[in-house]
Amino acid sequence: MCGIVGYVGERDAAPIIVESLVRLEYRGYDSAGVATIHEGRLYVEKDAGKLTEGGEPTDLQRRLKSLPGKIGIGHTRWATHGDPTRENAHPHTDCRDRIAVVHNGIIENFSELRQELEERGHRFTSETDTEVVPHLIEEFMSEGKSFFDAFVEAVKRLEGSYAIAAICVDEPDVILAARKESPLVVGLGEDGNFLASDIPAILPETNEVIPVDDGEVVVVKRDEVKILDAETLRDVTDEKEVQVVEEDPHRLERHGYPHFMLKEIHEQPEAVRNTLTIERDRLVEMAEELARGEYRRLYIVACGTSYHAGLGAKYAMEMLARFPVDVVIASEFRYVTRELVDEETLVLAISQSGETADTLAAVREANERGATTIALTNVVGSTITREVDHVMYTHAGFEKAVAATKTYTAQLAAMYTLTVELARRLGELTDKEAEEYHEELDRVPEMLERVLEWEREREVAVLGGRYKERPNWFFIGRGPGYPTAMEGALKLKEITYQHAEAYPAGELKHGPLALIEEGVPVVAVAQRGGVYEKMLANIEEVKARGATVITVAEEGDENVEEHSDHVIRVPRISEVFSPIVYTVPLQLLAYYMSVARGIDPDYPRNLAKSVTVE
Ligand code: F6R
Repeated sequence: MCGIVGYVGERDAAPIIVESLVRLEYRGYDSAGVATIHEGRLYVEKDAGKLTEGGEPTDLQRRLKSLPGKIGIGHTRWATHGDPTRENAHPHTDCRDRIAVVHNGIIENFSELRQELEERGHRFTSETDTEVVPHLIEEFMSEGKSFFDAFVEAVKRLEGSYAIAAICVDEPDVILAARKESPLVVGLGEDGNFLASDIPAILPETNEVIPVDDGEVVVVKRDEVKILDAETLRDVTDEKEVQVVEEDPHRLERHGYPHFMLKEIHEQPEAVRNTLTIERDRLVEMAEELARGEYRRLYIVACGTSYHAGLGAKYAMEMLARFPVDVVIASEFRYVTRELVDEETLVLAISQSGETADTLAAVREANERGATTIALTNVVGSTITREVDHVMYTHAGFEKAVAATKTYTAQLAAMYTLTVELARRLGELTDKEAEEYHEELDRVPEMLERVLEWEREREVAVLGGRYKERPNWFFIGRGPGYPTAMEGALKLKEITYQHAEAYPAGELKHGPLALIEEGVPVVAVAQRGGVYEKMLANIEEVKARGATVITVAEEGDENVEEHSDHVIRVPRISEVFSPIVYTVPLQLLAYYMSVARGIDPDYPRNLAKSVTVE
């Protein structure tokens, strides 16, 4: 995953590039680097480490910003080939330090290319796949080709996925870039132009962007941008749409919150409200599409938290609309389930970023097999929006923390609205019942505001601190409480580094109960509804074996007290929609435990926000 940036214009490039890299750090943050050109010389500065620490600029950031020149490229890295070291950090250069390259993606044939180039005398200094690119360009230039022609030839030799940007001292006013299966946008500025892995990186500089498509090469100069087909070199610039992004760049700041994750948790009432209102008509249209009855089966495909939103949607669709749904992890779908896809299949992909490699691959498989594809994403102009037949959006605003929070509840809000409309159209809900469910959804933002009142939040914060050293956690739930348990466990794992497992509570006796002993924390999701009594029995079962039980239950429910050590209260909501409210205290639990353990929850180790590699 990794993020790349480029700028050429009238201002000093390095500070602009570094600020953009800071905004891209959610894509990777184990090393960073910048290359600029100034007075005929290439300057490169790079190292392992982060650009900010506790919100403050690091020494690395200061070093990168000090490079001279009005043109440059930069990179923030999430290691795939080679450890996070200075040598492996980007930009990478050719033998004579005249060409610099940054890359996001994986070059699958790099071993062959490297061997071939080494045989021709090129010296490599890193273990990365990327380093073949500057040497390839150098090789082609040594045959007399221009920088542009050499770049195009080099790109043709690459197999795998890439968003690449390159500069060369021989042509000090141009950045060349190319894209295949890794995100890349061009930004059009007043005093220069930009390149970046995604829009938020450059949003404070410009809100006019052109998404680059697979198989395109980009030529970026101070006052000109050209986009060409990489194969035919046909100029396609005029065919590209310039998007004007409405997002307020100020929303990308922390606004007094210690971490983006906490800020985003608190933005959930607004994220849900916006999704319910702005997207309503579109969701109704999609419900109509589903209800037309032309599809034999519906697969929801997604990864991680978005997969849990898919599971929440499955429970809702099956409980309210009696509409059968298969939810498949995208990386499994793309190799196994795809065999079952045909023209009568509907594939609904959920991806907040719209860039997740596995989810995109699943969509492409589905398209190839003639399925109808729909995406639910938070990012306008993301790759997935250009690959599917229909797009639905969540309106959560840009999410920066690696751990997804507000996009999750917004995804659920969208899927629940769609479900109610589907159920109405299938005759499973009367108009009156459907309206009642919509009214309940409209009250969710208010419910979330209550969950996020400081008095309640503080109780969860105390629990996070108190149990921060417990190394093994269980999260249990039944019915729609099960996706809630899964999401709670995922949040805890990724930002506290404690082990957590989620189980459907009825499954405990088939094995995991053996692990419950004195002091093992069990978080029980105990929403009222069809499985409530059974859930109480499960709580009793683990308590009897010595577990420390933390139960999430609705206000006024006294039954849960007897066998729980702690009860986290949430407002009453129908069982079917319970994940949208019950998950929020579990996000807070993970957040406060992470902070208590001295971890930066915005940047968990080994993880990056957009997983654009397989
Ligand atoms: C967890 C998390 C990840 C993502 C997953 C899918 O907090 O954020 O599990 O949910 O990588 O990402 P998207 O939704 O962008 O496809």
